[in-house]
Amino acid sequence: MTSLRRTKIVATLGPASNDLEMLKKMITAGLDVVRLNFSHGTASDHENRVNLVREAAKACGKEIGVLADLQGPKIRISKFRHEKINLKENDLFILDASLASDNGDTQQVGIDYKDLPNDVKSGDILLLDDGRLVFEVKSVTGERISCQVKIGGVLSNNKGINRQGGGLSAKALTDKDKADLKTAVKLGADYIAISFPRSADDIHEARKLIQEAGGDCGIVAKIERTEAITAIDEIIKASDAVMVARGDLGVEIGDAELPAVQKHIINRARALDKAVITATQMMESMIFNAIPTRAEVFDVANAVLDGTDAVMLSAETATGNHPDIVIAAMARICHTAEKQKLTQVSRHRVECEFQHVDEAIAMATMYTANHFNIRTIIALTESGSTPLWMSRIRSGIPIYGLTSSIKTERKMTLYRGVYSIGFNIDTTKDINQQAIQILLNKNIVNIGDHVIITRGDILGQHGGTNTMKIVQVEKK
Ligand code: PGA
Ligand code: MN
Repeated sequence: MTSLRRTKIVATLGPASNDLEMLKKMITAGLDVVRLNFSHGTASDHENRVNLVREAAKACGKEIGVLADLQGPKIRISKFRHEKINLKENDLFILDASLASDNGDTQQVGIDYKDLPNDVKSGDILLLDDGRLVFEVKSVTGERISCQVKIGGVLSNNKGINRQGGGLSAKALTDKDKADLKTAVKLGADYIAISFPRSADDIHEARKLIQEAGGDCGIVAKIERTEAITAIDEIIKASDAVMVARGDLGVEIGDAELPAVQKHIINRARALDKAVITATQMMESMIFNAIPTRAEVFDVANAVLDGTDAVMLSAETATGNHPDIVIAAMARICHTAEKQKLTQVSRHRVECEFQHVDEAIAMATMYTANHFNIRTIIALTESGSTPLWMSRIRSGIPIYGLTSSIKTERKMTLYRGVYSIGFNIDTTKDINQQAIQILLNKNIVNIGDHVIITRGDILGQHGGTNTMKIVQVEKK
């Protein structure tokens, strides 16, 4: 029996992937979760995308998770009269919060984030267009920030502004985000990603808004600000998953800091029993090329070795030449990286005290599975929490999450090493036998295999898992 890929693939949808046939090819190539980027497009664009994804998923017989990524307070310049300008080193240039939004020229440009003059002071370094241009603040007078260009280049409409070291005070949820959040709930998104959170409070606020909108979407906190690194444990605890958002984060903390910070965020997320996505520029050259660079192969494989649950594609699948080929390449790299022993052995949290019964069962299961000849783990789950706990432990044994909840089925698409199966139980018959039969029918187990089944005495109860049983698969 060949092993399954454990690391999940998140792909951003866009013009290149708006088509049913392409989506089917992407799913066949290994897509697990789609990302709707709310920085682009209207509510109806996103609705059409979700409908297409659901249709393609149905045709392929695989559940696909939906992640709605809110734009957040990207701090941006406004527009130029003639779209773009060219700035040279030592030029003086003014960012002016009082300037009309389409009236920029070679001397000055407006800013969409009107509080910027209050947030910066002389000596600050501002990074524009993901750090391609660098300004030093010389003085702030009223609404005007006078800057000297340190690194010049082309500056065009609506480019982002970051401050080196972070500290810009914009709130994580803008009015647009609050409206988009309601749209995402309405579309049945499985996860909502919050951009630029500063603290756990931003996540709590989002959670409240999701509940008020009648949703129960998981929350992904995008770690892309210096402040978020300082508050990382609190943010992880408040969220369901985090994203190492290397694009903006690299601009704020400096690109050279990223590898260590990525490892730290992944370690903390796993230790705190949450999922983690590694994002941005993973296969950037494949926007155009049919094969990745060697550096991209190493980057994806290293994220797998770091322990990430999922790797993410952005422009590669949103606007790239061949989204399905990128996904196939990424799947191949993940799957091969997982053959390294280090991804399969665990220190088993021997020193940990467990807080919950289902958590203790999950840990006992993983210890047993890693030390006994077990083909698969079968977790009968309502909320998905037992499979999530299990998947925090490194292992080569597949974890099948069997659930009657379609929402749980889709949420589990993000968890490393967990495979969702929809399951309608007949409570009048032997439940373990029914679960095994499903896996037999799918050729996942063979007669004679040992499997571990976890479940609760009362099925359908959240957090109710209290038993594990080793069962040998028999002919019925
Ligand atoms: P974005 O977030 O693609 O929405 O900017 C990811 C990142 O910053 O890396
Ligand atoms: Mn970002």
